[in-house]
Amino acid sequence: MFRKVVLISAVFILILLSAGISLTIGWRPFIGPRMRATTSRQFERTPQRLARGKYLATGISDCTGCHSIRDWKSHGAPVVAGNEFSGQDFPLPGLPGRVVATNITPDVETGAGGWTDDQLARAIREGIGHDGRVIFPIMPYSAYKNMSDEDLASIVVYLRSLPPIRHPLPRTEIKFPVNYLIRSAPEPVTAPVNGPTPSEQLKYGEYLVTIGGCSGCHTPQVHGQEIPGMRFAGGNVMNGPWGNVATANITSDASGIGYYDEALFLQVMRTGYIKARELKSIMPYEEYRNLTDDDLKAMYAYMRTLQPVKHRVDNSLPPTDCKLCRQKHGAGDQN
Ligand code: HEC
Ligand code: HEC
Repeated sequence: MFRKVVLISAVFILILLSAGISLTIGWRPFIGPRMRATTSRQFERTPQRLARGKYLATGISDCTGCHSIRDWKSHGAPVVAGNEFSGQDFPLPGLPGRVVATNITPDVETGAGGWTDDQLARAIREGIGHDGRVIFPIMPYSAYKNMSDEDLASIVVYLRSLPPIRHPLPRTEIKFPVNYLIRSAPEPVTAPVNGPTPSEQLKYGEYLVTIGGCSGCHTPQVHGQEIPGMRFAGGNVMNGPWGNVATANITSDASGIGYYDEALFLQVMRTGYIKARELKSIMPYEEYRNLTDDDLKAMYAYMRTLQPVKHRVDNSLPPTDCKLCRQKHGAGDQN
């Protein structure tokens, strides 16, 4: 069934993939990834962690988004009931092989039931699978590496509490040479990561925007490199079952979301509507609507400090070449 509903374009994949592999090619493809051995640490199960883990995994970190089968025909592409975190095969044209988002429910045979806490923790922040493989960087570990130790522990505790769902899936198989290139993506996290407290509003807003991976979609890239001076200025083209769309300029320039106020930002992030205009479901508002007012306000406050970038992106117009982001999107010819 998901074969019908999940068809993400090659362009989208390349954007995400390149986010992971662009920085350093170096020697890693030849000598193997940086990785640390897992430890026997166990995260204490507490009610606080359980609640926090659920809040993050079904909210800002959007784990549900890829690890569950979605109904792309409905507004926001809600998870098809009974498939929460049980994984899915992305039958994506243009992918360098087969990419399967793992079943991360505690089913022993087909999911994560047999893995240790640290195997999960290492996969999430450091990009090394339970079996030691390099995880294909569509999984946003390059954003999650900034997640605090406590938030990471909370997500693991939450995943452990899920009902096991039996859902056998094929293995990910990445073709040559990409299987070698992705070896430069994993980065071990060996020092403590503390993260800011919610009382530091701007820093906390930055933290949420970072672990939410907003930049991975909203900063235009060419050949895996972010275009200098265009952070959060939009333009990445993403075609799939949600339709054909380019990401929006979310800086506070007049060509971006300069006209927003805090209330409108909260409304958009929760409903996927800007007044009467409907956003395509690839923008994860289905998850973001679970965020608290305070968290969304902190994100908005931080985003107001971003450098405004003039860059028109208008998905209601036909795609035209854009010389600023070097992609083809609505209103591209006006830049
Ligand atoms: C954009 C899509 C996407 C998002 C968002 C995402 N994942 Fe993944 N994840 C994947 C894919 C695809 C794989 C498998 C890649 C592979 O096999 O190389 C994966 C692999 C994993 C693995 C490794 C499983 C193993 O074999 O060891 C874990 C654990 C995991 N994800 C947990 C999470 C958690 C927790 C979150 C949220 C904090 C999350 N993922 C968010 C796509 C995603
Ligand atoms: C998976 C990719 C993806 C991620 C992650 C993502 N966005 Fe988006 N976002 C989009 C796309 C695509 C659009 C344009 C949708 C449309 O026009 O139908 C969009 C639109 C928006 C808009 C509406 C702008 C407007 O008025 O037209 C806002 C605001 C926004 N995103 C903020 C964010 C923030 C903040 C984050 C991080 C918490 C984020 N997005 C993460 C893909 C993404």
